[in-house]
Amino acid sequence: MSGRVLITGGAGFIGSHVVDRFLERGWDVEIIDDLSTGKRENVPAAARFHQFDVRAPDAVRIVATGGFDAIVHLAAQMDVRRSVADPVLDAGVNIVATLGLLEAVRHSTHAKRTRVVFSSTGGVLYGELATPPNVETTPKEPDSPYAIAKLAAEYYLSYFARIHGLDTVSLRFGNVYGPRQDPHGEAGVVAIFCGRILEGRPLTVFGDGLQTRDYVHVSDVAEATWRAATMPLSLGVRVDERAFNVGTGVGTPVLELANALLAAAAVDTPIEFAPKRPGEPQHSSIIIERARRVLEWAPRVSLADGLAETFRWFAARANSTAASRL
Ligand SMILES: NC(=O)c1ccc[n+]([C@@H]2O[C@H](COP(=O)([O-])OP(=O)(O)OC[C@H]3O[C@@H](n4cnc5c(N)ncnc54)[C@H](O)[C@@H]3O)[C@@H](O)[C@H]2O)c1
Repeated sequence: MSGRVLITGGAGFIGSHVVDRFLERGWDVEIIDDLSTGKRENVPAAARFHQFDVRAPDAVRIVATGGFDAIVHLAAQMDVRRSVADPVLDAGVNIVATLGLLEAVRHSTHAKRTRVVFSSTGGVLYGELATPPNVETTPKEPDSPYAIAKLAAEYYLSYFARIHGLDTVSLRFGNVYGPRQDPHGEAGVVAIFCGRILEGRPLTVFGDGLQTRDYVHVSDVAEATWRAATMPLSLGVRVDERAFNVGTGVGTPVLELANALLAAAAVDTPIEFAPKRPGEPQHSSIIIERARRVLEWAPRVSLADGLAETFRWFAARANSTAASRL
């Protein structure tokens, strides 16, 4: 099957891998991205690129008239701390813009039934009060405006499915890592550690390093997204029945991650400890049986292989940047 897909946030880390997956499989790809954190160099020539905000009237027009078989909505304000500092801004991008896209799909002028795939979070949605590993139906008490906004958007997706008959799916990603992640952002400890190793600076671990996260390779996330966007699905009407955890099911301590990355990079960069950061959950991991069963998906990249490949990518990029300065 091939078709037409719109990918918002397609110039970003996860989005660019999702774009690649659709292009490889013969789809027409359009991207909306304002390049606020994404990069133009991530956009392949074969994709049609629109540089503007997902809240712009042009974005709504493209959704309503584009004749898309699927929309993968990845554009977001994804900095948890920024959401705490400015929850109104966060809600504007993460809730209101999503709602605008759903309204545009509802009022679309073409005959296709568009599948809408929304990028939610398995890392912070369930909150500190839940005991990981969390299944989709775990009661949620999100601890940040970012997580609240993602959950609110998921409720809008299930509402639009139930009341207006839209075809919607939410994916709750774990801690995604891999090539093209931005080491300068808040998220992405693997990218940050890769950058530090290449700069010859110590790796900073906050707290005792025993806090766990569910690290999932971006190629596995792209495959889960592809399946969620293209498979025939018959989902229930409740919010959790339209959602899938996408991770590995394994919580890895950050100290173990740091040591595994140093082993993959074959260096002995020192690890330094800093005080635990307030508001960071101690443990986070998700159960992925539902994605295994319904999407017939499983993560394929082991953490050791994924870290080695990611480090090689950052090292190659650092070399080519250095060479271009000569
Ligand atoms: N990286 C992770 O570990 C992780 C985990 C859970 C959920 N997610 C979700 O996955 C999605 C993609 O995350 P990512 O890691 O690729 O981040 P990213 O910052 O690399 O990608 C986001 C993209 O959206 C674009 N964007 C942001 N606001 C926009 C706007 N208003 N209009 C148009 N474009 C806009 C950015 O320029 C960027 O290209 C986000 O929705 C994020 O919340 C990511």
